[in-house]
Amino acid sequence: MPKNGDIVLVVGGGGREHAVIHALSKSPEIAELHCAPGNGGISELAICHPAVKATDIDAQVSLAVRLQCDLVVVTPDDPLALGLVDRLEAAGVKAFGPSAAAAKLESSKVFAKEIMNRLSIPTAAAKICSSPQEAVTFLADCIYPIVIKADGLAQGKGVLICQDSTEAAQAVTDLMENQIFGQAGNNILIEEFLTGPEVTILCFSDGKNLLPLPSSRDHKRIGDGDTGPNTGGMGAIAPIAEVDAELQECILNTIFKPVIAEMDRLGTPFKGVLYGGLMLTDNGPYVIEFNARFGDPEAQAVLPLVKNDLYTLFKATMAGELDKHRLKYSGDFSCVVMMASQGYPGQYQTGYTISGLDNVRDAFVYHSGTEKTNGQFATAGGRVLGVSAQADNLYSAIAKAYAELAKISFKNNVYRHDIGGGLR
Ligand code: AMP
Ligand code: GLY
Repeated sequence: MPKNGDIVLVVGGGGREHAVIHALSKSPEIAELHCAPGNGGISELAICHPAVKATDIDAQVSLAVRLQCDLVVVTPDDPLALGLVDRLEAAGVKAFGPSAAAAKLESSKVFAKEIMNRLSIPTAAAKICSSPQEAVTFLADCIYPIVIKADGLAQGKGVLICQDSTEAAQAVTDLMENQIFGQAGNNILIEEFLTGPEVTILCFSDGKNLLPLPSSRDHKRIGDGDTGPNTGGMGAIAPIAEVDAELQECILNTIFKPVIAEMDRLGTPFKGVLYGGLMLTDNGPYVIEFNARFGDPEAQAVLPLVKNDLYTLFKATMAGELDKHRLKYSGDFSCVVMMASQGYPGQYQTGYTISGLDNVRDAFVYHSGTEKTNGQFATAGGRVLGVSAQADNLYSAIAKAYAELAKISFKNNVYRHDIGGGLR
């Protein structure tokens, strides 16, 4: 039977994957979209494989081979660090995303810091410690607050800001001795505390060429006014006014270009989306962290502003042909507000019916943690939905997102009232 288009599998099952699939669903080149594991919302646009977990590398490879995929898009951090892209390529399947060696920019903060120091890329001064004794000795002479980070992946929770030596000592014990994040805390970084507004810069990198997407800003804390514990992200806006053409150029020249050139020199070219979490300090942009993928929720704000065929950009990235493409930016502003389950990022209940989704007109609702049974959506995660709206100015985009969010309800839902600034 002749194929009438490509078969694409997206690995993951959160709001970011829904945003990627929503964009891919517009590509005329794709005949069949799959997602593993996917979620309730994603199942409206793609065939979901709920039994295939994102971190089950063997099962993901088998699925991709069985489906005869033309491309597998790997967006979550864990499967990238576990080498899913390498494994797919070894099995003869094309994959979008960095190799495990290139994804080390995210999966090892020590590796990323060493690269930045070698290239004189502006980043917080840091001491790398591989034993609690070394850390305790160093902490004796520190100026507080100080930031202590686990080297490895810790579901976005491995960064502890310590106000005094007691908190710092506790952080070292928790990370290195109690191993609250397992092996991720075998090595730690003790970092200078920086201040300034944060921005996210997402850039496609084909190993040699870069294609930057509109800038964005995540809101990581659970509570209004940036209070309470860090989450995966409670909302985002895009683009950010401070990141004008001149600052973007500076960020590309001082941060992104040297990093991808170095990764290429090391024989581990970075192909995929490189995420720079930056702080705009009084001394210019500093790197807080690199991620090896789209941010979540940033992707839910940024991708609706991109008018290019995302599938074309994915293929150009893997073919080393990004220099043949330019970003087609819609010119709009974007705001996504996350609705979460009360208790998140700690313990929470799931299984609550979601109502009102059909009444949403002026926004797209990306699903982070939902299930669909008998045509009815229910909550199935900490972050549940992302209400994403666009308009020709930021104020209207924010107003629209909140107006549409008000139409949706589920038991014990929580959201921030100040995404993009101001209280709603
Ligand atoms: P990360 O998981 O590395 O993105 O860190 C989580 C958050 O911790 C960041 O978004 C910052 O708000 C904060 N953070 C991380 N490193 C620093 C630093 N060196 N100085 C101040 N805040 C930091
Ligand atoms: N929004 C932060 C992240 O994706 O890690």
